[in-house]
Amino acid sequence: MASFPIDVLVEIFLWLSAKSLVRFRCVCKSWNSLLTSPFFIKAYLERSIKLHKFDLLKYDFNNISRVQIHYSPKNELSDLNNSFVGDGEKFKLVGSCNGIVCLSTFDCKNPHRSKIFLWNPSTGENRALPQPNFCVSNLIGFGFDPSSGHLDDFKVVNVNIHFEKHSNYTSQVEVYDFRRNCWKQVGNIFPPLLTKHLRHQSFCSIFPSSHLGHQVIFKNFICWCPIFCVDDEIVTLLILFDVVQDDFRKMAFPDIMPPTEKHISLLDGCLSLIAYNSSTDHYEVWLMKEFGVCELWTKLYTIGSIVNCWPVGFAISGEVFFLEKLYKGLRYHSPIQCVLYNVGSEEFEKFGVEVDSLYSTQLVPCIESLISLSSANNVEH
Ligand SMILES: *[C@@H]1O[C@H](CO)[C@@H](O)[C@H](O)[C@H]1NC(C)=O
Ligand SMILES: *[C@@H]1O[C@H](CO)[C@@H](O)[C@H](O)[C@H]1NC(C)=O
Ligand SMILES: *[C@@H]1O[C@H](CO)[C@@H](O)[C@H](O)[C@H]1NC(C)=O
Ligand SMILES: *[C@@H]1O[C@H](CO)[C@@H](O)[C@H](O)[C@H]1NC(C)=O
Repeated sequence: MASFPIDVLVEIFLWLSAKSLVRFRCVCKSWNSLLTSPFFIKAYLERSIKLHKFDLLKYDFNNISRVQIHYSPKNELSDLNNSFVGDGEKFKLVGSCNGIVCLSTFDCKNPHRSKIFLWNPSTGENRALPQPNFCVSNLIGFGFDPSSGHLDDFKVVNVNIHFEKHSNYTSQVEVYDFRRNCWKQVGNIFPPLLTKHLRHQSFCSIFPSSHLGHQVIFKNFICWCPIFCVDDEIVTLLILFDVVQDDFRKMAFPDIMPPTEKHISLLDGCLSLIAYNSSTDHYEVWLMKEFGVCELWTKLYTIGSIVNCWPVGFAISGEVFFLEKLYKGLRYHSPIQCVLYNVGSEEFEKFGVEVDSLYSTQLVPCIESLISLSSANNVEH
């Protein structure tokens, strides 16, 4: 085996799963040094973007949080070992970037016990972040700084909102830097108007989406699409956190988009929204063609005739995940079912997963990666 030229070996390795490659590290010293080299980790990541993609489906069922790998197009699920989070601990997936996933165990009753983890689901490696100066909040984001050239330049933003005298609300924003393994305080930078409306909503709301909702990572931005009620009017907008500038931005939507709640997702690597059009009772899929130009949202297609369905996001195969609530008399019949919409055939397919609630269900795109979480500060490129 050792007689293989190195470029042939590299080419073979790039086709294999991260799990196999982790095992191959033990074969011999030269394989270990190749498989842990920054050169190979980078080449493998680039190949993964094309070859080794999957979706993580996170949901709570019977009051237990689970995360499974969803393989398109066979619609198969396989379990992942997330025992590091703690026995029976509920968690949410904050986001995923370069094959690394950020998880939070935010518990509004015990914010001081809440933890944040980084996790590589392909290798199983994980790391608990040091506690921030203020407690772990429900308003956290996970992002990546592409400008530094390091593949592991991960950032976590933690926003605590405090009420002060005379209806004054302030935010305490902290940013965690993975390569330095520490938190930095960046102060009261959360958009002030939103600070007030976020705090107004009960912190232990049963709708976590009324905080910021699920995030999407796009370039150097962490993006959310929250919904607010301002003077009895529904307001939706994009909130972006720029991990390079350490600053928040707001972006309005053009008037042609439905004003209702929108579900943010990634479609073919572009920022997209699934918006409910109440006049047609259809969902509309919108794509932002050019980032930062609000006029450049275009409607891709509509999804019709769906009753009691709520979107979760796009699978990497382009199918749309929905949750379907069934009525029984006047009450919702529990549990809630997962349904897949095939854009080509315009058909819905039942999918054998039941969940406790809409807001604890997430679909997060991920890729296989050999980026290590134990060797912060060591990855050079
Ligand atoms: C779910 O578990 C939490 C504790 O983790 C408990 O407080 C709550 O009552 C449980 N809910 C249900 C419906 O069993
Ligand atoms: C999950 O990982 C833990 C710790 O690494 C291990 O003790 C446990 O046996 C694993 N569980 C399963 C089902 O593989
Ligand atoms: C709110 O607090 C900030 C900082 O503590 C202060 O600069 C600002 O003037 C206050 N605004 C009001 C309306 O009191
Ligand atoms: C909803 O769909 C109708 C029919 O396609 C369209 O005319 C309208 O502009 C859409 N948007 C809103 C906000 O109703």
